[in-house]
Amino acid sequence: MKFFVDTADVDAIRELNDLGFVDGVTTNPSLIKKSGRDILEVTKEICDMVDGPVSAEVVALDYDSMVIEGRKLATIADNVVIKLPLTLDGLKACKTLSGEGHQINVTLCFSVNQAILAAKAGATFISPFVGRLDDINLDGLELIEDIRTVYDNYGFETEILAASIRSVNHISDCAKIGADVITAPPAVIKAMANHILTDKGLAQFVKDAEDAGIKIV
Ligand code: E4P
Repeated sequence: MKFFVDTADVDAIRELNDLGFVDGVTTNPSLIKKSGRDILEVTKEICDMVDGPVSAEVVALDYDSMVIEGRKLATIADNVVIKLPLTLDGLKACKTLSGEGHQINVTLCFSVNQAILAAKAGATFISPFVGRLDDINLDGLELIEDIRTVYDNYGFETEILAASIRSVNHISDCAKIGADVITAPPAVIKAMANHILTDKGLAQFVKDAEDAGIKIV
């Protein structure tokens, strides 16, 4: 399973990259806004830092403008993935831009049918949003499971990039289902290291080491 970091915060990406946890990065207009940076500039900085795919999202809504924006984003670096919304115009742009050899991440996927169309349009990645489905009392993980089944039934090569990940349980559940990639905020990825029994056990070891005067160096 590949780990993408869902942020445009370069310091947070660097910290996780130094730990070897970063296989790629995803951004969106909301994350770019949060960073307070220019999209072209911050995407270039991320692409230079990370070896893997870096998704940068278009902001246009019509096919012609999406293709122009996608081509521009692709000039930033070889590892840019053009992120397109799951609309008919977005799918048409996906078909055109993937045909030109660009990597495409089709985003804002909320159904199996949308995922099928993205695969047929040549998407490299499909991004089903787990957390946003959970937010409206639907089952985001069930969608990941269903897309996995359908893609495997027909041998679609589009990678399932589980997005809108909100908890460590989302990550382990996506791993069990067989999502190809998860993208999560830095805090959620770091929280994977936590366990209450680790903290408890370590506190006891520290106390016993002090009591026994154990010194190694
Ligand atoms: C995915 O590519 C999106 O950037 C992201 O995962 C959305 O997450 P959110 O629903 O927490 O905003």
